[in-house]
Amino acid sequence: MTSCPRMLLPAAVASLLFVIDPAAASSDDTLIKRGEYLINGPVACGNCHTLAGPDGPDFSRELAGGLVFDVEPFKAYAANITPDNGTGIGAWSDAELAKAIREGLRPDGTLIGPPMPIPFYRALSDQDLAAIVAYIRSVAPVKNEVPTSSYNIPLPPAYGPPIDSVSAPSPDDHLAYGEYLVTISHCMECHTPLKEDGHPDFERLGAGGNEFPGPWGVSVSRNITPDKETGLGEWSDEEIKTAIAKGVSRDGSHLLPPMGFGYYANITEPDLNAMVAYLRSIPPQTSEH
Ligand code: HEC
Ligand code: HEC
Repeated sequence: MTSCPRMLLPAAVASLLFVIDPAAASSDDTLIKRGEYLINGPVACGNCHTLAGPDGPDFSRELAGGLVFDVEPFKAYAANITPDNGTGIGAWSDAELAKAIREGLRPDGTLIGPPMPIPFYRALSDQDLAAIVAYIRSVAPVKNEVPTSSYNIPLPPAYGPPIDSVSAPSPDDHLAYGEYLVTISHCMECHTPLKEDGHPDFERLGAGGNEFPGPWGVSVSRNITPDKETGLGEWSDEEIKTAIAKGVSRDGSHLLPPMGFGYYANITEPDLNAMVAYLRSIPPQTSEH
């Protein structure tokens, strides 16, 4: 009979965990919080997926579909990604939603087109991707039918090979973590000049010069490499952080959209520091702006 207690113990412990399960509840919360930070901070999905008025983003319709990108050769509508069943992503499984975000493939196998920055989201770690999915699931479902995008260019069948697993560098590894953050924030999509074929010229990473027309006129992305004359080389860390998180340039002038300053205001100090450390480490490029 001495084996009886030993056999009972695990079952008793298991049923206790099943009833209370504090670990699972708190890890869900942690995941949603992390997702909320990423989406409303550095990753700024809402900068495209939430409509903004003169007073900023309309959070009563958070992620319910947003901007229209009417730029030859396409007219793309940022989709409704709230968990609404008919007009949002309510019917998608977590795995399907994750694949859509990191690989750009919808459950029906079609490709999510530009300007959603999928090539950068391929770097999202499994953990951060799960956090983003968990947060999207937690926002209020909004019924909003968004028109279908049209692309007058052939889209490739995929953005790359299927992704199995990605891990993020440790935040203690300042430079590598800064690079990770700058990548998933797709800073370099806007700040890297385009080659003639329309693809970013990564040999001139961060040199700027892309034009963004909008209600604000035309803004031109700046040189964010450490070049002393035309980049951020002579700027202090504080000045760079103020530009990113407050949208105020070194000379005190207010920077124009479409950079998501309102979202970047939520980036934590350690994360901003890591991003600045990384920007200081990339090769300097000279530019005319
Ligand atoms: C630069 C703008 C931009 C950013 C930033 C962006 N998206 Fe998108 N997204 C779009 C556009 C435009 C589409 C529609 C593309 C199409 O119709 O093929 C889209 C489509 C999607 C879809 C497909 C929905 C459907 O029903 O087909 C999902 C899911 C999605 N985005 C999630 C996200 C998430 C999550 C983030 C942040 C991690 C994000 N997006 C950031 C522009 C953006
Ligand atoms: C959607 C495009 C876009 C994205 C994404 C973007 N930027 Fe920008 N950024 C711009 C534009 C355009 C300007 C210039 C605005 C102006 O001239 O008023 C700018 C300005 C800046 C400036 C100010 C430089 C100066 O000389 O005043 C810094 C610093 C900067 N961006 C860094 C970043 C970082 C870091 C990220 C990622 C967290 C980022 N940007 C993401 C488009 C973008």
